[in-house]
Amino acid sequence: MSARENWPSEKISPEDLLTMARDAADRAYVPYSHFHVGAALLFEGDEVIKSCNVENSSYGITICAERAGVVIMISQGKKNPLAIAVAGSHESSDDYFKTACPPCGACRQALAEFNKNMLVVMASKDGAKVYELKKLLPHAFSLEHEE
Ligand code: THU
Repeated sequence: MSARENWPSEKISPEDLLTMARDAADRAYVPYSHFHVGAALLFEGDEVIKSCNVENSSYGITICAERAGVVIMISQGKKNPLAIAVAGSHESSDDYFKTACPPCGACRQALAEFNKNMLVVMASKDGAKVYELKKLLPHAFSLEHEE
């Protein structure tokens, strides 16, 4: 069964969520890389949280859009994201809907903390594609040891 068949909302499509992620990327604070990333997290009841990447002159403390989304989610008392869309592009182009912006490894781990069955939407040249987080991060670290 394809990941899209398990899509959790009738109201918000993967394409809608990707558009929300793309909108969030406009708010990115990226004076160093000029690479804008937006994320949109989908919850039960069709609630959505949008976030973007925030860079710093101390480069290493930059926060990715996906982990910024996790921080907002927890701060707002939410815990179970059903899906996330991620859109990114260098500000000199407009590739948000053509090229995938795959979540980095650290963000995959951060997302897996809250729902191992989460779906992940990314752009592709053929439109929005839906992936399962557990396939993007096999053998995620967990303190609960599984055989
Ligand atoms: N970035 C994200 O926001 N999410 C990712 O999953 C990977 C990278 C950001 C960090 C930095 O601001 C810019 O993209 C270039 O690395």
